[in-house]
Amino acid sequence: MAKIVHKEVLAPQIKLMVVEAPWVAQKAKAGQFVVLRIHERGERVPLTIADFDPSQGTVTIIFQEVGKSTMLLGTLEEGDEILDFVGPLGKEIEERNFGHVVCIGGGVGIAPTYPKAKALKEKGNFVTSIIGARTKTMLFWEEKMQEVSDVLLVTTDDGTYGEKGFVTHVLERVLQKEKVDLVIAVGPVIMMKMVSMVTKPHGVKTLVSLNPIMVDGTGMCGCCRVTVDGKCKFTCVDGPVFDGHSVNFDELMARQRIYLEEEQRALDLWLTEQAKEEAFRVV
Ligand code: NAD
Ligand code: FES
Repeated sequence: MAKIVHKEVLAPQIKLMVVEAPWVAQKAKAGQFVVLRIHERGERVPLTIADFDPSQGTVTIIFQEVGKSTMLLGTLEEGDEILDFVGPLGKEIEERNFGHVVCIGGGVGIAPTYPKAKALKEKGNFVTSIIGARTKTMLFWEEKMQEVSDVLLVTTDDGTYGEKGFVTHVLERVLQKEKVDLVIAVGPVIMMKMVSMVTKPHGVKTLVSLNPIMVDGTGMCGCCRVTVDGKCKFTCVDGPVFDGHSVNFDELMARQRIYLEEEQRALDLWLTEQAKEEAFRVV
């Protein structure tokens, strides 16, 4: 059981929870993730660790309410407990001085970008961070990203805050002007694909954090397989961070859509049940 000690709404449908999980907090490293389960019959939800505090024994998770399980998670409040909170899982990023590192966070991907930027800044890298969201109200953690970055550049797709456009537009400009030794990108798959396409002609090493469908998170079910450099890799144990120039992003995007129909049906059923319960409460 892992107790929720703090909850915040960061943006519409984006929530933050600080969870008491000393067994994870004491071992966590940037790049790793947890798998949680809300109740005994619940789906296993993989979430990249957004922050951790070994002294307090807490782990911060940030999630977008997109389906039944994340919506249910969003209904939990401070003091409630999450049944299973397993981690840290996956491999950590290599923490060393590369020189100039560009950390890119798109949308909810800003959360898992933070510990990576923080760890690399602590290693003495010059960190340029680029964070982007669809619109101003969807942007979060600007201040926190500023704290761990030498330069912070902000974009919104609609131009309501920062520079108008995608993170890739800003990245292109940075690569034209400056020497960059490493790019790390976390966000929607299409963004990570486009970032990798932008960096490839510049010959800049690019790491991406993949988020395929997962079940056990420990290398047993094969559900999270991705093709990297023509070889089958399991994201949960071989990743989640891979070389962006070697990932088959199109296959990953297709695999992410496999259960869309079932996911929608589960969400519709849950919403109907919630509406019925609400109606009974009113009566
Ligand atoms: P979004 O669609 O709002 O996009 C966020 C930013 O990504 C945009 O503001 C833009 O700058 C950039 N972007 C989007 N499309 C682009 C394109 N075609 N070319 C270049 N840049 C582009 O993102 P969202 O709705 O917050 O993202 C949700 C997705 O992110 C989900 O699919 C979720 O699973 C994924 N996600 C991934 C991780 C991970 O670990 N990889 C973590 C959290 C969320
Ligand atoms: Fe089962 Fe990775 S989630 S092998």
